[in-house]
Amino acid sequence: MDIKKLGVVGAGTMGNGIAQVAAQVGCEVVMTDIEMRFVEGGMKKIEGFLSKSVEKGKLDDKEKDAVLGRIKGTVDMADLKDVDLVVEAVLEDLDLKKGVFKELDEMCRTEVILATNTSSMSITEIAASTKRPDKVCGMHFFNPVPLMRLVEIIRGYGTSDETIRITTELAQRMGKTTVEVKKDSPGFIVNRIMMPHFIEAIRMVEEGIASVEDIDNAVKNGLNYPIGPFELMDLTGIDIAYNVAEYLYKELNKENKWVSPNLLKTMIRSGNLGRKTGKGWY
Ligand SMILES: NC(=O)c1ccc[n+]([C@@H]2O[C@H](COP(=O)([O-])OP(=O)(O)OC[C@H]3O[C@@H](n4cnc5c(N)ncnc54)[C@H](O)[C@@H]3O)[C@@H](O)[C@H]2O)c1
Repeated sequence: MDIKKLGVVGAGTMGNGIAQVAAQVGCEVVMTDIEMRFVEGGMKKIEGFLSKSVEKGKLDDKEKDAVLGRIKGTVDMADLKDVDLVVEAVLEDLDLKKGVFKELDEMCRTEVILATNTSSMSITEIAASTKRPDKVCGMHFFNPVPLMRLVEIIRGYGTSDETIRITTELAQRMGKTTVEVKKDSPGFIVNRIMMPHFIEAIRMVEEGIASVEDIDNAVKNGLNYPIGPFELMDLTGIDIAYNVAEYLYKELNKENKWVSPNLLKTMIRSGNLGRKTGKGWY
């Protein structure tokens, strides 16, 4: 099945990135959100990214206009009725996602695949709100979408091989490296590996074993990671690290290894969430 027209639900950080990479490889894209200001915000982000690409000589003005011309922004979900595949990227709220999938199931042709970009929620549970669980899967892009190479393709309990094949091909067409997550399991691959290294790094600071800077340096130079654990948490948000740790603790049998260190909780309580404050860990 050739995906010519893609629907993207949610025009935020992830949605506009997904819309952009799809349009860059020639897909027509319909990007929806609940209010026009969010749609316009998403379009502005895409335009800004493409303009920078033009400045860097990676794209010319004609190509930029062609990409933008392939993206239709809308607040009317009915505009998704003739798309070939939908990627949902609304807020990380299970009831919201289930409602969106129910609506998509009623709106889209029966053969249309409905993918979710959830970072943590159960694909199986989201699929259960539709009458087509075989055509529901996870398509987990990373932030920023145009730059990050990986997409995790996640199987729900009922996902068919055909759904995995089509979504894998689409992600690869977008220039991404894909991995298949064979079982619907919390944290998928990347977050499940990332969290223990975050938690262990924070515990080492608590125990006075090394400084934040030296742990980042050790990981970058000793493991050849491009970014240290504290730098990464500061970039993506310490609150997100905390939420993922709490979620994995709850979902993965409350094992001790997922318990949030006290320092992480203190950072959350202090309101120092990395990203914006510029304040360091202490
Ligand atoms: N931000 C990241 O680093 C990241 C990385 C991977 C996956 N994700 C996942 O991607 C999803 C989106 O995250 P985000 O960071 O882009 O969020 P965001 O807050 O930037 O954007 C979400 C958008 O969804 C819109 N929305 C809410 N309800 C809607 C509805 N019913 N119909 C259409 N649009 C609706 C909101 O108005 C908002 O513009 C979440 O599931 C998140 O867990 C995020």
